[in-house]
Amino acid sequence: KEVYLNGSWLKPEKAQVSVFDRGFMLGDGIYEVSPFYKGKAFKLKEHLQRLQYCLDEISLDFDAFSLEEVIYEAIERAKLSTEDCAVYMQVTRGVAPRTHYYPEDARPTVLLYVFPVILEGFEKKTWDVMATEDKRWHRCDIKSTALLANVMANEEAVAAGFAENLLVRKGYFTEGSHSSLFFVKYGVVHTHPEGPQILSGITRAEVIKICSDLGIKVREKAVHIDELVEVEEIFVTGTTTQIIPVTSITHKNKKVYSASKDSITKKLQQFFIERTR
Ligand code: PDD
Repeated sequence: KEVYLNGSWLKPEKAQVSVFDRGFMLGDGIYEVSPFYKGKAFKLKEHLQRLQYCLDEISLDFDAFSLEEVIYEAIERAKLSTEDCAVYMQVTRGVAPRTHYYPEDARPTVLLYVFPVILEGFEKKTWDVMATEDKRWHRCDIKSTALLANVMANEEAVAAGFAENLLVRKGYFTEGSHSSLFFVKYGVVHTHPEGPQILSGITRAEVIKICSDLGIKVREKAVHIDELVEVEEIFVTGTTTQIIPVTSITHKNKKVYSASKDSITKKLQQFFIERTR
C-alpha cells in the first residue's frame, strides 16, 4: 500500500513530514473523505468543492480539483477500482518556523491515500448514542484537521459503550462528533441549518434532496433537547456512516430518547442505496 505525499508515491513508513509542518504543530490544515462505490465516485465534485471552500476560508492557496487525477491513480495503485473504498485527502499550510500568523513562503503539504471500507449493509445497523455539550469552536463549517474536541466527544461515547456522541450547543442539537444529524417530528424531517455551527455534510445534502424528491417535508431548524418527547425518529448521516437510525439517546446518565418509529429512515435508506449503487 502506498500513500501520495507532495507528488510522490511512497510506502506509508517512508512517507514523512517535518516536525515543523503546521498541520502537525498547529492543526493548520483541511481534510476530506470521499466515498467510492465499487470504484465509482459518489459526489466527488461536491467533496472537492467543500475542500476548496475550506482552503479558501483559511487562505490556503491550493487547487482542490488538481487532486482529481491523483485520486484515480491512488485507487488504481491500491487495486480498489471495483471495490468499495474511500479517499482521505489532507492539505496543510506546510513547513515553516512556528508562528500564529500565516507564514509567507510555506508550500502546502498534500497527503492522499485510499482505504477499503464496508459500505454494504449499513441499513441493518442501529446506533445507541449519548449526548454531551458541543465543545467545538465556532467554525465547524471548516473541515479542519484540528479535531481534538470531536475526538474527545467520540472517545467519551465509545468508552461508555455508545456508537456516537450527539453534540448540544445552548440546548440545541448541532450534529454528531463525526456525523450529520436528523430528527423526524410529526412526519417532518428536521436538521440544523447550515452555518458555522455544523459541517455542511455532503450526505446531509443528498438526504435533503431525496426528501424533496419523495415529497417529505424538511425544515432546516435546530431541535432542542426538550423537544425529544415529540421526536419519532432520529438518524445520522455521513460518508462512511451513510444513513443509520439512532435507537436511543443517553444524556447525563439518563435515557432521554427511545425511537418510536423507523418508516421515514427506512425509506431514505432504500432510496440512498438506489442512488449510490
Ligand atoms: N466525517 N459532521 C462532522 C463533524 C463530520 O466529521 C462528518 C464527516 C459529517 C458528515 O459529512 P459527510 O456526509 O460530508 O461525510 C458531519 C468524516 C467522514 C470523517 O471525519 O471521517
